Amino acid sequence: MRQNLVAMRDQALNELEALATLEAVNLFRIKYLGKKGELTQVLRGMGQLSETERPVIGQIANEIRDELEQRIKLRQEVIRRQEVEQRLASEVFDITLPGKPFLLGHKHPLTQIIDKIRDIFMGMGYSVAEGPEIELDYYNFEALNLPKDHPARDMQDSFYITEEVLLRTHTSPVQVRTMEEMVPEIPIRIICPGKVYRRDDDATHSPMFHQVEGLVIDENITMSDLKGTLLTFAQEMFGRERQIRLRPSYFPFTEPSAEVDISCIMCSGDGCRVCSGSGWLEILGCGMVHPKVLANVGYDPEKVRGFAFGMGVERVAMLKYRIDDMRLLFENDLRFLNQF
Ligand code: DAH
Repeated sequence: MRQNLVAMRDQALNELEALATLEAVNLFRIKYLGKKGELTQVLRGMGQLSETERPVIGQIANEIRDELEQRIKLRQEVIRRQEVEQRLASEVFDITLPGKPFLLGHKHPLTQIIDKIRDIFMGMGYSVAEGPEIELDYYNFEALNLPKDHPARDMQDSFYITEEVLLRTHTSPVQVRTMEEMVPEIPIRIICPGKVYRRDDDATHSPMFHQVEGLVIDENITMSDLKGTLLTFAQEMFGRERQIRLRPSYFPFTEPSAEVDISCIMCSGDGCRVCSGSGWLEILGCGMVHPKVLANVGYDPEKVRGFAFGMGVERVAMLKYRIDDMRLLFENDLRFLNQF
């Protein structure tokens, strides 16, 4: 019995050394160590041996099983290594070839402009407010001193959902919502970037576009605070050498109101095609918050005041990047977008 076992072991090890694939090694394991394997049968048949033989043969059989298991593992490792070496030898690759670069996306130019505007105003202590794009007529018009039959509503023809609900035509309603939330607290110092909607569509108008609203409310805010703020903004956005000028204008929610121009980014004021010879480019509307608007939200116009402004993001982007057709900003043509 003992000799038979030793012979089986020698025979098995010889066989194992000759095996060249993992599959063959697997079959080998089944042949000797599987449920019906040769060695397994011996271990199963131990019951028939005499009391004295059993422990001796048992020990030998166990040792052989352990040895076979270890040798199988070794053989598998050798075969695996050989397979890798073979593959490396047969595959030709040139490690000096340049790698494939990953395509990296970037932010849309409008988002870049909004981020920049946000950075500039946050640097001046503003925080960012938001409001709904589907807005009540009350916030979009009425509370801003634009009652139902006010002629200035014609400039902002909108998309109405019901008579009282519309897509907001500007970000100014966020002024009202913010003041309602804050009253009677001061100061307020916010900007509000967001989408707005109007029934307009040509090379310089889109039915959806973006604005950034600004609002400051405090005790002793004056028009010179407004002017200094906007000059800082213009110089941060368009270059240190920019000048601004305020032209009297009209908005129902500010008094006095002004339109703000920056000195032309092409000719710096001499007059050229971009500024139609005037030397100036209009960038936003602004003014001192109308006492009626303050009163509408519950502030005492005798005690607090403030300024507000609103700018078109597409217009800022078009000026900064010298884009002549607004539709380019919405077509998502990569030949255009990749330039930013
Ligand atoms: N909401 C105005 C518009 O869309 C822009 C504007 C003008 C906003 C003056 C203001 C402001 O806050 O004070 O045409």
